[in-house]
Amino acid sequence: MNKISTKLAVCFTIAVFIMEGLLMLYLHDNIIDSRIQEEFQSILSRGNSHRDVLEDRYSNTTLHHIALMESKTETEVVITDKNHQVTISSKKLTSGMRELIHHSPTSLPREGRVIEANWKDVNYLATVTPFQKDEHKGYVYMFKSASPLRNLIRNLNGHFLLAGIMSLIILACIHFLLSKILTRPLIKMKQATEELSNGNFEVKLPTLGKDELGDLSASIQTLANDLETLQNDRTEFLANISHELRTPLTYVQGYTNVALRDNISETERKEYLQIIQEESKTIVKLIENLFELAKIDENNFSIHMEKIHSTPFFLKIVNKITPAFKSQGVHLVLSAKKEFSFHGDPIRLEQIIMNLLDNSLKYSNANSTTSVIIEQTESEKLVLIIKDQGMGIPPDELPHVFNRLYRIEKSRSRELGGSGLGLSIVKELVEAHGGHISIESEPGKGTSIRIIL
Ligand SMILES: Nc1ncnc2c1ncn2[C@@H]1O[C@H](COP(=O)(O)OP(=O)(O)OP(=O)(O)O)[C@@H](O)[C@H]1O
Ligand SMILES: [Mg+2]
Repeated sequence: MNKISTKLAVCFTIAVFIMEGLLMLYLHDNIIDSRIQEEFQSILSRGNSHRDVLEDRYSNTTLHHIALMESKTETEVVITDKNHQVTISSKKLTSGMRELIHHSPTSLPREGRVIEANWKDVNYLATVTPFQKDEHKGYVYMFKSASPLRNLIRNLNGHFLLAGIMSLIILACIHFLLSKILTRPLIKMKQATEELSNGNFEVKLPTLGKDELGDLSASIQTLANDLETLQNDRTEFLANISHELRTPLTYVQGYTNVALRDNISETERKEYLQIIQEESKTIVKLIENLFELAKIDENNFSIHMEKIHSTPFFLKIVNKITPAFKSQGVHLVLSAKKEFSFHGDPIRLEQIIMNLLDNSLKYSNANSTTSVIIEQTESEKLVLIIKDQGMGIPPDELPHVFNRLYRIEKSRSRELGGSGLGLSIVKELVEAHGGHISIESEPGKGTSIRIIL
């Protein structure tokens, strides 16, 4: 049994039930009340009109006419003198009628009054109207059988009962539908989140409407998709890392075995040890980079913004790396039209530039030129362009170069000591600065990377 559906539906049902009950009660009482009032009003006004006729022309003929007229209707008339002695009646009087006449009050308003209203128990409803014509004084009694009214009210009660039962049935249907409509998606979502926590991210939730439930369902679906991508990425990333680590370690192992042999010359041994040293460097660098990425991922890595003066800052970096470029015969030029200051984290910024220049150097040939161009936009943002005349990147590989461990022509890159983490670290660092990075490249012509901070 799912609790929320019960709660919701029970609340709804009780609320509607109370509302409907009160409404029915009110309607029922009102209808019956006004029906009874109408009934009394009608006999009273009949009595009054007989009074008017009697006061207009009191005669035996008139009396007879009145009695005759009433004998053809559902009402009965009894006319008495001032001592309540019956003068004429449209029907033979019953003992109940006689009793009523006997006990009726003597002082009456001209409009008459109801003298028997207990429609539930008595046989007759009754009214009395006084009249006076010269010396003729008396009372007009009107009687009407209460059973038609009782029948009417019984019918009415029957209708109300029927309506009540019908609305209860409808309410039950709504109760059922409501609990289904409202809670089925909720149950689905609950199951989906349970699946997610069990590590099954392949959940499929139906698209619901544009309401809160729909939004919630869509959010859970997005969460599931994100988790799935995340898991796939992680699996792939781990596979790549172990592969990346295995290759240099295999070299280290292999060359160590060779270097340990007795029958090799000292020069050979030195050569092998150098290879081992190189490979260990690669491993250390890879692990450092991975550690860097992990720090960024964990978000426990912060950017310390400082005010930086452009020319001295970039000049220092370029000077630091120039010897490496010189040794490979690649020209490195810094171009900054004007000096300005901007905000950034100097250590991270240096890391970014070093990584990009490292790439430019690695993937360029001797005698080509790499330019570092510094500009400032009108909105005082720093624009940093690093442009080389190297081997470039094929267009179909371009969208992937920022992915972790992505390298073009793995063997070539491996020869150059790359692990495919440089650009992904650069991208993360730029984004941590709230900046934007883009790349343009043409194979054989060169690559240009543009960063806006
Ligand atoms: N300036 C460039 N010119 C040509 N190819 C480039 C350039 N920069 C990057 N690439 C290509 O993009 C790939 C990804 O670059 P990235 O810097 O992420 O990795 P890497 O240089 O191979 O390794 P790492 O930087 O981790 O040592 C490289 O393998 C390289 O083939
Ligand atoms: Mg690199």
